[in-house]
Amino acid sequence: MQKPWEGRFKEKTEEFVERFTQSVSFDKELALWDIKQSKAHVKTLQKAGVLTEEEAQKLLLGLEDIEKDIKEGSFDFKQELEDVHMNIEAELIRRLGEVGGKLHTARSRNDQVATDERLYIKDKLIEVIQSLRALRRELVKLAERSVDILLPSYTHLQRAQPIRLAHYFLAYREMFLSDEQRFMNAYRSADCLPLGSGASAGVDFPLDRFYTAELLGFGRLCRNSLQATAERDFILDVLYACAVCGMRLSRLSEDLIIWSTEEFGFVDLPDRLCTGSSIMPQKKNPDVLELIRGKTGRLYGNLMNLLVVLKGLPMAYNRDLQEDKEPLFDSLRTIKDCIEGITLVLEGMSIRADRMGKASGGFTLMTDLANYLVLKGIPFRQAHKAAGSITAYLLEKGKKPEELTLEELRSFSELYQEDALELFRPDRVADRRKTYGGTAKEEIIKRLQVAKREEGMP
Ligand code: ARG
Repeated sequence: MQKPWEGRFKEKTEEFVERFTQSVSFDKELALWDIKQSKAHVKTLQKAGVLTEEEAQKLLLGLEDIEKDIKEGSFDFKQELEDVHMNIEAELIRRLGEVGGKLHTARSRNDQVATDERLYIKDKLIEVIQSLRALRRELVKLAERSVDILLPSYTHLQRAQPIRLAHYFLAYREMFLSDEQRFMNAYRSADCLPLGSGASAGVDFPLDRFYTAELLGFGRLCRNSLQATAERDFILDVLYACAVCGMRLSRLSEDLIIWSTEEFGFVDLPDRLCTGSSIMPQKKNPDVLELIRGKTGRLYGNLMNLLVVLKGLPMAYNRDLQEDKEPLFDSLRTIKDCIEGITLVLEGMSIRADRMGKASGGFTLMTDLANYLVLKGIPFRQAHKAAGSITAYLLEKGKKPEELTLEELRSFSELYQEDALELFRPDRVADRRKTYGGTAKEEIIKRLQVAKREEGMP
């Protein structure tokens, strides 16, 4: 098969060069979007009077034919044709003859590839956002079922204060909502049409780019042909959004891994989502969660990878930009898998409310013991010190806070009364935190209602 530049070259391309410069092995992922774009280009060429109606019809039918083969998986991509664009064009010419050679009029692979990528990103981001919504709904469902389950919050991975488990799930729901904003921002960056920018300077045919944008569903046009062909910030935005969401998933995974240990025993993971050991018969490992945590590495790497590729590129298009695709495909695939994976784990795990409840009391109540004195007029710093002395006393005696008698309490401050002993109930302590966004039951119920409304849940 002939290469488009064979008129200019006197030598056959080295085999190494073919192998080294090809991108079809990975950019065939863009094939369907490339066809979509070509169809819009044909219509734009026809509108500009560059193609007759008959020519345009032939090209459109030929493209549809190829599209069918690609969908069926029977299209034969060839390495010597370098990339997805030239593979499809060459096949079109093979099937249609001369008229096929008119497709690439007023177009360069430089505006072509950027257009394919933007179309691809827009479609893929919708899928990611949908899976993120399913994850958030699962978190809301879990929150609804766990308003009455107490556990400690942890700071520095040390027991901090009693909270309601619903509060924990709603915290992640908030964070995944903020991730959706980042994906939406990436969507908006991608929603800009490069086609019609040519190789770098625009094209010398009267293309109606607004018409092309309308056909392809782009909200805006790239306003400068150099920027349109040379810039990949819209891919950085995707990679960044994936990296942040991956970081989030990694932290949630880490919690669940810790919670599923024998030491914590806060959750049980179902066998179907775990794997065993090849040597230790007793093991049930949380590999899905570990891999979600581990895959954050490649999500960060992909972002860094492209940032480095872009740095120092002279205007406008350079072949280095071909390196943008593998990180992009990998991040989008990885983030979707990770979101789906964690949703499965959340759906399947069982919560051990008794174990959580047991851990929620004890020293987690000491802040409230201090605040009790504050409410009686003692400055917080002094109250903190008194409660600190009580803690030291308990540790020394090997006693639990709930075993304190009123006399013992009063030996630290005369201000402690009978009602201070009520503070040794984690649910009461949690429910004192009624501030907007706090863990009190009445507040959580309000937040839960808002969350359900926002997620469109009954
Ligand atoms: N495969 C190339 C890429 O991904 C397509 C554009 C090639 N353009 C060029 N002038 N060689 O960037």
